[in-house]
Amino acid sequence: MARLEGKIVLITGAARGIGAATAKAMQAEGAQIMITDIDQPAAKALADSLGPHVASTALDVRDPASWAMAVEATKARFGGLHVLVNNAGYGGGHIESLETLDQETARQIIDINFLGAVWGHQAVIPLMRASGGGSIVNIASNTGVLTMNGYSVYAATKAALISLTKTAAMELGPDIRVNAVLPGSVHTDMSNLMNMDYETFSSALGGMPLKRAAKPEEIAEPIIFFASDAARHCTGAELLIDAGQSTGIYFQMLPGHPDTPFHKLTQAGPEKMKPKP
Ligand SMILES: NC(=O)c1ccc[n+]([C@@H]2O[C@H](COP(=O)([O-])OP(=O)(O)OC[C@H]3O[C@@H](n4cnc5c(N)ncnc54)[C@H](O)[C@@H]3O)[C@@H](O)[C@H]2O)c1
Repeated sequence: MARLEGKIVLITGAARGIGAATAKAMQAEGAQIMITDIDQPAAKALADSLGPHVASTALDVRDPASWAMAVEATKARFGGLHVLVNNAGYGGGHIESLETLDQETARQIIDINFLGAVWGHQAVIPLMRASGGGSIVNIASNTGVLTMNGYSVYAATKAALISLTKTAAMELGPDIRVNAVLPGSVHTDMSNLMNMDYETFSSALGGMPLKRAAKPEEIAEPIIFFASDAARHCTGAELLIDAGQSTGIYFQMLPGHPDTPFHKLTQAGPEKMKPKP
């Protein structure tokens, strides 16, 4: 049996990237899906391509009134709601240092990545309860646990989202489960700022045990798990899916580190490492 048979799902930011890949994978698992995005034409084009069990509506996650309309549209189209995927996100370009990050960008990141998810939880609770309970899956990030230079406010919003996941799990159980998925580097518009193909993007990363970026459809898998009844005993959990990027620090002088130019130099022996006279 398909893993999401009978489930009605709302996904935010689903016009592209991880959200779109999740919508496609969930449709294949038997779900009825409301694709939402601030980019309504792109959301509609995707929904139209996926058939009669998939619909679309505009949703700007920053706006509680927009949330109310999207939840109402889901009820009108499918008759209920079992799963919310809080996926919409904004990186602000990821290239600003804390010192120069402008106030407007910082506020946008907080409004979309964190407050947008807060309003989302509030908006879906009544319909989810009326539908017999459900599952909320928050798309955080491994930067929510390890952070990264250039990611100051973005990483802080993801840490906040992980914290929200735990509080929501405590308050909304037993009928609503709340869990978080923490991707690492994924080949999507958000992180692929230089528009590289998958292989080039992956090879630019390095420093992680699996030595490659994720494809968006690989992130859809743990989202489906948390959404499905297979995760019926999981709430308040966070699942890293980051190729091991956050496991630890590679020390170049010790065995087991990635193959880098510096690694080759140390393998060549101490003689080669001596500075030239
Ligand atoms: N790509 C990565 O490497 C990566 C890593 C970790 C976590 N994430 C997280 O995964 C989620 C999806 O990211 P992605 O890589 O697919 O990004 P993406 O940029 O490909 O897609 C994001 C989508 O969100 C929509 N959006 C932006 N602002 C919105 C708003 N106010 N209301 C509704 N929709 C809005 C955009 O229109 C877009 O369709 C985000 O929460 C992101 O932070 C991404």
